[in-house]
Amino acid sequence: MAAGRRNLIVVSNRGPASFARGPTGERIARRGGGGLVTALRSLVTHHDVTWIASAMTDEDRVVAAETAGEPVEEVARDGSPYRLRLVAHDEAAYDWFYNVVSNPTLWFLQHYLWDLKATPDVDHALHTAWDDGYVAVNRAFADAVAEELEAGPDAAVFFHDYHLYVAPRLVREAHPDATLLHFVHIPWAQPDYWRVLPERIRVAIHDGLLANDLVGFHTDRWRRNFLDCAEAIAGADCDREGSFAWVGGRPTLVAAHPISVDPHEFDELASSVEVLRSQREIAAGRPEKLLLRVDRTDPSKNIVRGFRAFDLYLEAHPEMHGRVGMLALLDPSRQDIPEYAEYLGAIQRAARTVNARFQRDGWLPIDLRIGDDFPQSVAAYKEYDVLLVNAVFDGMNLVAKEAPLVNERDGVLMLSENAGAHEELGEWALAVNPFDVAGQAEAIHEALEMPPGERRRRLDGLRAHVREHDLGHWVEAILADLDRVAAPAPR
Ligand code: F6P
Repeated sequence: MAAGRRNLIVVSNRGPASFARGPTGERIARRGGGGLVTALRSLVTHHDVTWIASAMTDEDRVVAAETAGEPVEEVARDGSPYRLRLVAHDEAAYDWFYNVVSNPTLWFLQHYLWDLKATPDVDHALHTAWDDGYVAVNRAFADAVAEELEAGPDAAVFFHDYHLYVAPRLVREAHPDATLLHFVHIPWAQPDYWRVLPERIRVAIHDGLLANDLVGFHTDRWRRNFLDCAEAIAGADCDREGSFAWVGGRPTLVAAHPISVDPHEFDELASSVEVLRSQREIAAGRPEKLLLRVDRTDPSKNIVRGFRAFDLYLEAHPEMHGRVGMLALLDPSRQDIPEYAEYLGAIQRAARTVNARFQRDGWLPIDLRIGDDFPQSVAAYKEYDVLLVNAVFDGMNLVAKEAPLVNERDGVLMLSENAGAHEELGEWALAVNPFDVAGQAEAIHEALEMPPGERRRRLDGLRAHVREHDLGHWVEAILADLDRVAAPAPR
């Protein structure tokens, strides 16, 4: 680490642990997974962390009520202690926050998912969801942060993601000298697309982020878009060379640091009992050539177009019928949101269409498995010949970094040019335009026909890059930037 232990207040909607009742009624802490929480685990090991997160389960709300909002002492998977403060939100407010604003609005906007001639409808319901949901939940987070800062004013506050854009401004008003940083884990859209939102909302989002001392993104592309938006939407004065945006006499450093994974974790997982068991099952049923995709069932992941591309490939290559198959391991996501529930239906229909058209003699072209089974995903990472990552847009895409680390078949990565990972991994991947299904079908052919030496060269390149630019690298880069912008500790 660049400097010694720090006091950090980490703030994210989904926390690292959630409580439930066990079979005999005892309280159990479930230590959550998910990209963000995994990525931030090392912070807890090396620093003194208070983590503020939403109470998600009934038992979380009981814990929050029992402790009157005070943090509880928790331990991370590696035994490191940290403090967890759960914020219990009003149920209706949280529903508006998560199921109306954060996901179907902000996530959709930032991944360019709208069909603008028809969606979205910015009606009274969205305005209410913004004021009484998104802003209210952000205010509850900001109040919790402000209380923690009163107890420990030297702590730096580390906000995460699109759920918390307006909280930093509220904290800044209460604590003008606090050190605030915010990492945005999803793409940043260009200024014109943000203009779909009413002015007061889009200005509040940019103004909220510009209350931070540091705002981080995974790629230079999202960083540049943010600077353009800061200027066009929040009237910031941008120094593009130094990458600062100035508002009201305060600078915000806007940085790009690509998040990564922990290669040692995957080395260990690859030889774990669960993964080996799953690998035997996959190996026993696999076709000669295996295409793989591993995703949440999110419209941004472009799963339906991926199936369509495979359909076109099979149509053009009858010689491969019976010899090639696609394994799609898909984790159901955000199913209380109609757009997500409908997308899962569309995925199932699209897979069925391809299978109905081509399946024969026990050969199933698409093996669609809906569920959350991480050991199975790692086992499949070892077995693929081609990995398909064709996201419409993606902040980073960690599957593209994880899978090559453990692959045993010189597998080829087909990678969307709109995934953040493309900025780093593009030279060793087969780049695809996510909308061009014909191009993706051709890329599947190219990947399957690629000479062995070339496959090996590309896989080696991917692995070397990810091993060198690992998660520790990301954390160090952010903390080094934090040192550049941190306010001196109050005396
Ligand atoms: O950054 C995007 C993200 O918040 C990830 O951390 C996480 O993997 C994903 O979205 C899941 O989101 P949710 O909390 O809505 O399940």
